[in-house]
Amino acid sequence: MDAIAGVDFIEGDFTEESVFEELLNLIENRPVDLVISDIAPNLSGMTSVDLPRSIDLIELAMDFAKTWLRPGGHFVAKAFEGEGIDTLRQQIRMTYDKQVNIKPKASRGRSREIYLVGLGKK
Ligand SMILES: C[S@@+](CC[C@H](N)C(=O)[O-])C[C@H]1O[C@@H](n2cnc3c(N)ncnc32)[C@H](O)[C@@H]1O
Repeated sequence: MDAIAGVDFIEGDFTEESVFEELLNLIENRPVDLVISDIAPNLSGMTSVDLPRSIDLIELAMDFAKTWLRPGGHFVAKAFEGEGIDTLRQQIRMTYDKQVNIKPKASRGRSREIYLVGLGKK
């Protein structure tokens, strides 16, 4: 995509250590104000495969936020309703002052897509 002024762009697989390191270099090991993850696996259509993959990616984003999000900062991650999601909600509740679920208008009603939000990191 075309460059956007004021935006740094890293193209890579977030599960790879080298990409993670690149991100840490970019933020110069300083805490960030906000972590947003719109990462989703390529959907196979098989819930038993897609859901655990999606949860793994959300957990990676949550781990990143655990270390690098500043106290008071906020967290948003795309998720899909299903087994394991309530555990993520509980983890967010423990780590943030408030946990909310957002279903944007742009998200199709019959889709299981939901955004898990943590407001105010403790
Ligand atoms: C729903 S799309 C996000 C779309 C994006 N917000 C946009 O407006 O173009 C999910 C994205 O997550 C990416 N993705 C999946 N696994 C990833 C990973 N391990 N590391 C980085 N990106 C990943 C996919 O390539 C896909 O582009």
